Amino acid sequence: MTAQIIDGKAIAAQVRAEVAEEVKALAAEGVAPGLATVLVGDDPASAIYVRSKRKACAEAGITAWDHDIDAAISQEELLALVDSLNSDSSVHGILVQLPLPPHIDEDTVVEAVSPAKDADGFHPFNLGRLLAGTGAVVPATPAGVRELLVRSGVEISGADVVVVGRSNIVGKPLAALLFQKADGANATVTVCHTGTKDLARHTRRAGILVAAIGRARSITRDMVASGAVVIDVGMNRTDAGLAGDVDFEAVREVAAAITPVPGGVGPMTIAMLLKNTVALARAAMPGPRAG
Ligand code: GUN
Repeated sequence: MTAQIIDGKAIAAQVRAEVAEEVKALAAEGVAPGLATVLVGDDPASAIYVRSKRKACAEAGITAWDHDIDAAISQEELLALVDSLNSDSSVHGILVQLPLPPHIDEDTVVEAVSPAKDADGFHPFNLGRLLAGTGAVVPATPAGVRELLVRSGVEISGADVVVVGRSNIVGKPLAALLFQKADGANATVTVCHTGTKDLARHTRRAGILVAAIGRARSITRDMVASGAVVIDVGMNRTDAGLAGDVDFEAVREVAAAITPVPGGVGPMTIAMLLKNTVALARAAMPGPRAG
């Protein structure tokens, strides 16, 4: 078997075209959606990601409010900036790129962003709602993984999903998203991590295997069931260039479908961030309230 390649670039382009339509609809109602991005310091990978996010905003008609901040900023100054964005009515979404410099407490900054402007969906209020199944903003990478599966026609309901990695950004919210009793979910989810014994015993059972480990090519062919759908969230810089968490060339021989790196999950993360921003802009509009 040679796997179908799941084309994240093409699916992301569909989502971005839909977002651009929604931006036009909002404009007709007098709303210009805006996303504030905050980049602290000069981590080269973060700078590349933030540049891509800002460019994608412009292409979708979303105003990007760019804040490039010196790494020496104090936590108090950063919190003051977040506060000013919280009260700026032209800003509908706020994204503080992670990681932050070590003298700044990330949790404090994430919790300072208003949940109503939390374009990343990282605030504990939004993560709690996601767990409860009442959430509106879903972190962009997990949302992108689900969107890839749904738009590729992969049946999630009833599937055995194995997520390798338990980060707050990917593994934990993805598990919460996929086990909900809802359309495009309803899976049986196992989350594996550094404490998991015999990782391959779990990954070999997966109908849908999601690798979010952060180590190049750590999912090898012997760890994947024949006919599995494999989603690679990894973005590892190696001497040979960008590599995913999956040994792509070997695993594609056994999988039914697989995402490439680059061109898989990465473009979806950006598309779903834009989608979150327009959803936040719509939710901020005054209008009739239920009840
Ligand atoms: N760092 C790595 N991924 C992300 C992301 O999706 N959002 C933010 N804010 N920082 C990140």
